[in-house]
Amino acid sequence: MPAATGAVLFGLPQNDACFIDPVRVIGKDFIMTIVEQPTSTWIPGPILGIETSCDETAASVLAVDGAVLSNIIASQHAIHQRFGGVVPELASRAHIESIEDVSAAALQQAGLAWTDLTGIAVTQGPGLAGALLVGVNYAKALAYALNIPVVGVSHLEGHIASAWLQEPAFPLPCVVLVVSGGHTHLYYKEDSGHCRLLGATRDDAAGEAFDKGAQLLGLEYPGGPAIDRLAQQGNPDAIAFPRSYLKKGSLDFSFSGLKTALLYTLQVMPEHSRMARAADFAAGYQEAIVTVLVDKAFAAVRSSGAHALAVVGGVSANSRLRALLQQRAVSEDLRLSLPPLAYCTDNAAMIAAAGRQALRSGLRAPLDIDAQASLACSFGLSGSSC
Ligand code: KG4
Ligand code: ZN
Repeated sequence: MPAATGAVLFGLPQNDACFIDPVRVIGKDFIMTIVEQPTSTWIPGPILGIETSCDETAASVLAVDGAVLSNIIASQHAIHQRFGGVVPELASRAHIESIEDVSAAALQQAGLAWTDLTGIAVTQGPGLAGALLVGVNYAKALAYALNIPVVGVSHLEGHIASAWLQEPAFPLPCVVLVVSGGHTHLYYKEDSGHCRLLGATRDDAAGEAFDKGAQLLGLEYPGGPAIDRLAQQGNPDAIAFPRSYLKKGSLDFSFSGLKTALLYTLQVMPEHSRMARAADFAAGYQEAIVTVLVDKAFAAVRSSGAHALAVVGGVSANSRLRALLQQRAVSEDLRLSLPPLAYCTDNAAMIAAAGRQALRSGLRAPLDIDAQASLACSFGLSGSSC
């Protein structure tokens, strides 16, 4: 059973009834793609990517050479804002309402017709089950109607692929830090594309820490951008927050203590002081998260012997994190891939990019491919919060 290299990849040759366990876990490593290699050839051409794992309905078209021709994102933030978080049922409904229009807009912006498409990549998991189902079923129906292959993509692999969207020649091997609402994972990505897990969060993901901290500070959802904005008016050293490095040399993360520290500090403070010092709270709290992320990412680069670092996922949109990473990359003479903001938070260009690698490897999903809400867990990623 050969292990395909590169991105995600769950799939089967079409018409092949013999499915082999897609996952082989070797200690803490995982091999992204483990399927029987099909022989069917794919004539490369434009690909449609579809992403509906959480609260963004997104579609994107990549050209035959991997260039992004369109990247359409319909955000549901306005729908979920008054609840302070994503309401799964509302998310599914909103995906159903907008998936057709978003996909049609992606085609239109790319200047292509449906019949120009040669493949479809869709997020298969992890994510909200009902939300994923909308994208997966839409992708299957479209693939059937157009008689083109479809591949299921892991959302996590999509984030990783985003590092190469604008910099296709970004070098391997490299260290990849994935920081999103559900993941804080450090990988060593080898020449082959195989990813080895170096460390992960033991409790909250970095994005979760931002979102929960914002909630305690009375800021709007989503919390990360809200803290980022408010922190720009605050002093990061005014209020000290704990930085959890765990034991010496560990590349794991822990953010739950930080959140508790914020809660306790706020609890003993009169309301008017809390309000007056909100920007300092935001700046100090943010600093505690991003300095640990930067320190551990660079420690991983040093200990692994890599010379390049990619930082991806929603939290990589954070302005302070980006500034610190850029400074350190210059001072340590290291190649850094920080995708543009449009590719940091959830988008379909990254799904199409991962799917493109899958299709090029000859992979296909069967038309009974199903959404898998806990897909990352099946990879055996320690510390995964799914
Ligand atoms: O990758 P993403 O869009 O979705 C997931 O896969 O989870 O990441 C969403 C997370 C949220 O927790 C959000 O608060 C955080 O990314 N985020 C930010 C910023 N923009 C989004 N965190 C800090 N600063 C930002 N500017
Ligand atoms: Zn994401």
